Amino acid sequence: NEFGSSNGKTVLVTGGAGYIGSHTVVELIENGYDCVIVDNLSNSSYESVARLEVLTKHHIPFYHADLCDHEKLETVFKENKIDSVIHFAGLKAVGESTQIPLKYYHNNILGTLVLLELMQKYDVEKFVFSSSATVYGDATRFPDMIPIPEECPLGPTNPYGNTKYTIEKILNDLYNSQTDLWKFAILRYFNPIGAHPSGLIGEDPLGIPNNLLPYMAQVAVGRREKLNIFGNDYETRDGTPIRDYIHVVDLAKGHIAALKYLDNHENKNKTGICREWNLGSGKGSTVFEVYRAFCDACGEDIPYEVTGRRAGDVLNLTAKPDRAKEELQWQTELDVEVACRDLWKWTTDNPFGYQLNGIESTFAS
Ligand code: NAD
Ligand code: WQD
Repeated sequence: NEFGSSNGKTVLVTGGAGYIGSHTVVELIENGYDCVIVDNLSNSSYESVARLEVLTKHHIPFYHADLCDHEKLETVFKENKIDSVIHFAGLKAVGESTQIPLKYYHNNILGTLVLLELMQKYDVEKFVFSSSATVYGDATRFPDMIPIPEECPLGPTNPYGNTKYTIEKILNDLYNSQTDLWKFAILRYFNPIGAHPSGLIGEDPLGIPNNLLPYMAQVAVGRREKLNIFGNDYETRDGTPIRDYIHVVDLAKGHIAALKYLDNHENKNKTGICREWNLGSGKGSTVFEVYRAFCDACGEDIPYEVTGRRAGDVLNLTAKPDRAKEELQWQTELDVEVACRDLWKWTTDNPFGYQLNGIESTFAS
């Protein structure tokens, strides 16, 4: 059994049925942590949890609850001895956030506040937060700061990014109120892609995918006609924007590294901590480069058309990942080619994601 025995620590994983959360649960269990998942399934399905149990051969307690529901969330803290929290739950579509900002502020910020209040009440002090490179906004306004270090001034440019920025501020304020107590790891993800190599779990967006890789995958299996490439007139090597794409399994491992860092910190120091780390590869790829890698993985040149620029897109978002390497002893190991291969396995094994021709699969009896 590759999944080792329990280290006796239980991690509450909010949003654990979702894309990054589910991959992180696999790594947590592999590293001896017990997991409890809370998710309202607003952007995911129970099927991912059922598959996690198959994959890890572990029972994973699941609470179908909204973080904003204080009473229901409290039962999770009452019924489990939580050692730490990894907080993935949130709404994440940039475009949608400009249409319905109140829903984004309500869900992301209130959900986090309720969670932190309950942590305070139940003496849970270690917290890993899913932030985003989106907090840097258009970092190209600081040309000396590409690739982007954590010290780069923040400046989100959309409501979604503002919720991440605000939550970072809340965490800093809370830490400053009791610096001997709280242990906060703020992880700023760049562009997560790919899927678990087993093909059992992966990204399953509802409706039309916003992101490049899921969109290409749906074109390749015939669910969409062609890829739209949003502009080829940027000042880059081939005219398309540069991003730091990171395999979701590498990203998941970054959470284990952060959690262990907080555990060590707790053991060695009498102080708390609140610190940010970029989770990226440090290597930028253009849209055309990713297109090529994905076509090679699926064995077909999928149709595409170059259309106009997408509002809000920036030229280059590439991480300087040195801090995570030095302090968390974490760095990426898997490249874009591997991510495309794993995405393609997930897609061919599950062309309709967790739905079977629109009907939820009965994979887990
Ligand atoms: P996801 O939508 O797959 O997962 C988020 C999960 O949270 C979903 O399962 C959803 O049902 C759940 N959820 C949302 N609001 C909730 C609430 N109020 N109560 C309970 N559950 C709730 O998204 P993901 O890609 O796995 O992202 C995870 C986190 O990482 C998010 O906070 C996201 O903002 C952040 N992030 C994602 C990316 C990315 O590109 N995927 C990049 C940077 C940061
Ligand atoms: C990547 C590149 C597009 C789709 C988003 C969020 C960010 C973070 C990660 C949460 C860009 C191009 C895309 C398509 C295309 N999420 N593209 N055709 O915009 O870098 O980042 O996800 O925190 O906050 O903004 O990712 O995958 O949407 O786009 O040409 O159909 O692909 O222009 O250059 P993005 P993406």
